[in-house]
Amino acid sequence: MRILGIESSCDETGLALYDTERGLLAHALHSQVALHAEYGGVVPELASRDHIRRLTPLLRHVLAQSAVGLREIDVVAYTRGPGLAGALLVGAAFAQGLAVALRKPTLPVHHLEGHLLSPLIAPDPPEFPFVALLVSGGHTQLLAVRGVGQYELLGETLDDAAGEAFDKTAKLLGLEYPGGPALSRLAEAGRSGVFALPRPMLRSGDFQFSFAGLKTAVRTLVRDHPEERPDFRADVARAFQDAVVAVLAGKSLAALRHTGMQRLVVAGGVGANAALRHCLDAECPRHGCRVYYPPLEFCTDNGAMIAFAAAMRLLAGQSPSTAGSFSVRPRWPFAELMTED
Ligand code: KG4
Ligand code: ZN
Repeated sequence: MRILGIESSCDETGLALYDTERGLLAHALHSQVALHAEYGGVVPELASRDHIRRLTPLLRHVLAQSAVGLREIDVVAYTRGPGLAGALLVGAAFAQGLAVALRKPTLPVHHLEGHLLSPLIAPDPPEFPFVALLVSGGHTQLLAVRGVGQYELLGETLDDAAGEAFDKTAKLLGLEYPGGPALSRLAEAGRSGVFALPRPMLRSGDFQFSFAGLKTAVRTLVRDHPEERPDFRADVARAFQDAVVAVLAGKSLAALRHTGMQRLVVAGGVGANAALRHCLDAECPRHGCRVYYPPLEFCTDNGAMIAFAAAMRLLAGQSPSTAGSFSVRPRWPFAELMTED
């Protein structure tokens, strides 16, 4: 079975072809970073218009790359939500139109399930069950994952997501959009321990997070040091990153202990952070556990994770839908996908 995956929930247009027997055949991505950079963040209307422009050329690209003909596509999968309403509508309408024309069914995918299952695209994938640390621009969650569709929420952020905290703190430090990777690069040049920032909720005894206070602590630091030495910003960036990494790693290890599971899977954009990976790579084996990541290119938004999540759903027995009528879910709660058994 060949599945076309279409991702358009935010500022990346991603398409991919996944074959349930042969694996990932091709994927293509267009990032809108340059388009939104001058505004300091994603402008939804511009995002929608750019998705319209990119979808057809990207589709041609994945078909050419995989030498698969349009009519050999069996199912058209797309991100139904959560995300920007207009951006989702463009991808969903494109997917539905294509599926109607090809007389093939569709499969709407939850964006976070795409992220969650993306580490399984790697050559040496983890087996179920595992603890998942989902850290993206909009979400920070710890989940116990027992199978496809068998997700139990252990805890999540009470305010800002980890990626959002990276982005907002980057802005405070005068860094360009997108802030996460820029802040992480600046932090590499900084020294640990110059500034002491709190590790919010590290000892709260549960799996909840809170990052808004950390961002405020950075704002106070910047306000109190208006005329600082040149490496001031790098030291602050380092202190911020150290704090976020300590909390994410500390809570992930606690979740492994709590569930008795031995595999940790890290997914979502912040999973690309080198300091977080370095910390988990060192700490997990020390606790008798193994940590897994998606291939770096599939950490941030992409079409491969959508095609792959759809494939996993189909293999688990879910029926695809008849193409034609659809709706998007900009605020689709992940909890709706969770089953308890
Ligand atoms: O998963 P993703 O591409 O989109 C969402 O679904 O939100 O995640 C994007 C988030 C952004 O907040 C971005 O700043 C953050 O991931 N990010 C990083 C890094 N790369 C991306 N944060 C820290 N370090 C990075 N290297
Ligand atoms: Zn995402």
